[in-house]
Amino acid sequence: MMAALALGCFTSRTESQHTTAATEQSDPETRAMQLLQANCFTCHNPDLEIELRIAPPMFKIRDHYIDDTIRRESFVRQIVDFVNDPTEERAVMYGAIRNFGLMPRQQFNQSDLHFIAGYLYDNDVSSDAWYAKWDSFQKRQVPQQTNFSSYEEMGLQFANGTKSQLGSKLLGAIQSKGTVGAISFCNIEALPLTDSMSKVFQASIRRVSDKPRNPANSANSRELATMLEWKGKMEAGEPLSPVTFEKEGKVIGHYPIMTSAMCMQCHGQPGTQILQQTQDVLSTLYPTDRATGYAPNQLRGIFVVEMRKREKDH
Ligand code: HEC
Ligand code: HEC
Repeated sequence: MMAALALGCFTSRTESQHTTAATEQSDPETRAMQLLQANCFTCHNPDLEIELRIAPPMFKIRDHYIDDTIRRESFVRQIVDFVNDPTEERAVMYGAIRNFGLMPRQQFNQSDLHFIAGYLYDNDVSSDAWYAKWDSFQKRQVPQQTNFSSYEEMGLQFANGTKSQLGSKLLGAIQSKGTVGAISFCNIEALPLTDSMSKVFQASIRRVSDKPRNPANSANSRELATMLEWKGKMEAGEPLSPVTFEKEGKVIGHYPIMTSAMCMQCHGQPGTQILQQTQDVLSTLYPTDRATGYAPNQLRGIFVVEMRKREKDH
């Protein structure tokens, strides 16, 4: 009922309203696991073998930030501040920065981020009891369509999961193969998540841009309109919210793709940020490349999620 109402028109609710609705849907424990999994565990995975790690597991981070005296609110503030603006000055895990490089700047929903940080304060994520909960959460993970309160929520999960998997793959490839070796990794087609989500939800995801590197990723007129709208909002200092609408029996969601410092070596200023060696390979592979000259925190493109409309929502 709610979903049908919300999707009846071109919705664009604000992020915080959207999260509140989603939080009410599942119990806090499940919600926390879902948020950690979608936003943090692609890099801070608790299950990975040491040699496969691309970032410290979350319990190590908690250990560094928590002690007997720290109050909940200052713990939460420190985590949130670092995640929103990862700098060496803020960081306390110098060994991790040496091993993995500084955490890339990413965009997170602020109320989700506060929720995650609070959960990390309240729960000892290194304990056997917590691992048992995590295990049982993962076993329940055969995703059910009814878990989602709306198409917008489902599309957001898809987009966020894709984004964080892509980020971790790219980062891992840059660390092990260098920038040139990582060029083929800025591609979402090969991500396992894309495949499994597509099967379970009959949903698909694409990336498009007004300044595409690969001409196959050119935005159409509806997508260009969304980008224009968001750029206006960014200029006005307003937050960006997803856009969902219906088309030919499908629900389509648009979610922003922002640049971070990590993207500059392939999408920044040619000659300074993009090294000649990288530029040479890019020019050969993409003779009509328009995707350079970006700065961090700019709108790079859109995740376009297409979801087939289910019977009961008609
Ligand atoms: C794309 C990969 C990636 C994702 C996704 C990610 N991180 Fe990180 N994070 C890293 C890396 C790499 C480090 C280690 C280097 C560092 O400390 O900056 C790190 C370090 C941290 C640190 C310790 C910073 C310090 O040195 O004091 C915190 C806190 C943190 N992450 C929180 C989070 C939270 C919370 C999330 C989910 C909302 C998250 N991260 C998602 C890659 C990621
Ligand atoms: C190692 C080089 C490299 C890095 C780093 C990189 N990209 Fe890319 N990016 C590429 C290549 C190559 C393509 C073309 C992929 C294809 O053929 O579909 C691309 C394509 C894209 C596209 C699809 C639209 C288009 O222009 O074709 C988006 C969106 C995108 N990148 C965003 C990002 C973001 C955001 C980051 C940082 C988090 C990033 N990229 C980091 C190399 C890179």
